[in-house]
Amino acid sequence: MAKARTQFICQSCGAVHNRWVGKCESCGEWNTIFEEDPTGGIGGGPGRVAKKGRPVALTSLSGDIEEAPRIETGISELDRATGGGFVRGSAVLIGGDPGIGKSTLLMQAAAALSRRGHRIIYVSGEEAVAQVRLRAQRLGAADTSVALAAETHVEDILATLAEGKRPDLVIIDSIQTLWSDMAESAPGTVTQVRAGVQALIRFAKQTGTAMVLVGHVTKDGQIAGPRVVEHMVDAVLYFEGDRGHHYRILRTVKNRFGPTDEIGVFEMGGSGLREVTNPSALFLSERNEKSPGAAVFAGVEGTRPVLVEVQALVAPTSLGTPRRAIVGWDSSRLAMILAVLEAHCGVRLGQHDVYLNIAGGYRISEPAADLAVASALVSSLAGLALPADCVYFGEISLSGAVRPVAHTAQRLKEADKLGFSAAVLPEASVEKPKGLPTRLKEIGSLPDLVALIAGS
Ligand code: TYD
Ligand code: MG
Repeated sequence: MAKARTQFICQSCGAVHNRWVGKCESCGEWNTIFEEDPTGGIGGGPGRVAKKGRPVALTSLSGDIEEAPRIETGISELDRATGGGFVRGSAVLIGGDPGIGKSTLLMQAAAALSRRGHRIIYVSGEEAVAQVRLRAQRLGAADTSVALAAETHVEDILATLAEGKRPDLVIIDSIQTLWSDMAESAPGTVTQVRAGVQALIRFAKQTGTAMVLVGHVTKDGQIAGPRVVEHMVDAVLYFEGDRGHHYRILRTVKNRFGPTDEIGVFEMGGSGLREVTNPSALFLSERNEKSPGAAVFAGVEGTRPVLVEVQALVAPTSLGTPRRAIVGWDSSRLAMILAVLEAHCGVRLGQHDVYLNIAGGYRISEPAADLAVASALVSSLAGLALPADCVYFGEISLSGAVRPVAHTAQRLKEADKLGFSAAVLPEASVEKPKGLPTRLKEIGSLPDLVALIAGS
């Protein structure tokens, strides 16, 4: 037999290299390339006889197709993020930093589902059954009929799942502990994780079980990260949050059965995660309305509006190269706004350090936040506090124009609901709701904004 060929696989993104390199060209991570034997349980192997399939006509399928059958947890923040509940026969990956609360969330989901009469198996590869039970007790879930198993060997897990009555939903916590006889590398490596996940997904598809996989986000590259299996599963959700803050956000990044821009908001407390039905009120709860450099952004995440404070501090620098420190927003967008402020408004920040923070550890991905960021920057530089009852939204282009964004009505309605009586928004915004008492200040370009703040 030919000598087994090994490959060099990036543990972060799964890219294959034919020699060892220090930096993965595909994802840019350093020291994540490890040598592995890729012959890991994929496909049939020698001697397998090919089976002929029979394609069916698309038209013959019409009529009896319904919505994907879903398992609702009743935890509405979780159901919203999954697009209406877990789908039978599908695999969902829930990724996140270690300690962020993935196991807590899933134990609560398991308990809720079990109370609704579903059969749930929670497979823990990280903690012993006693430990998982202890957590369940803390979460008030110890009296439910969730079945626990502490296994890491994929073949054993599959045997456990096949025994007795078929489960409705299986939780695998976590994929990094999986190992399979089909692959030869060490547990936690790309080959092992892939082979294990593939076998579990196959089980899910064959039996109609919903499979929930937990994956830790890893930085050091010794174990494979969730990105390796992102393309294998039907939906990917990330559980995010700041250790210093209590709330957590479940963000959908891929969903074959639903929308991908939804978020679910939770608050971590002494007895587990609590749903936050009004995130805006939470994000704005610690506002200091009188200080310069703070602007409230009226954002929209998926189907829901979220108001959050953007904080900027602009201070003269003592360094040769001024500092740009950003938490919760994109650094290249900040660079762009600084450049536009300089080029079109004469606002020079080359001799200033710029710090930008989204309050409460929240992360904004919408370009609509441009206007709020620019307002916070100008307000801090000028030392002028912005009106406390005003919200900001709009996209800024390189020409300095302020562009309309989607969901104007939704943003304005949420602002009104939370007591904001004014809004600065792009000129030519459509779908403005009628009858709101909100004072609207429409601007067409960034210089208009600077003039507005300077005059306030
Ligand atoms: P955990 O769910 O174990 O995180 P993960 O599975 O993502 O690694 O949660 C870990 C953190 O959550 C831990 O620091 C303790 C905290 N926690 C609470 O604050 N309240 C609770 O009720 C529970 C169960 C955990
Ligand atoms: Mg855990």
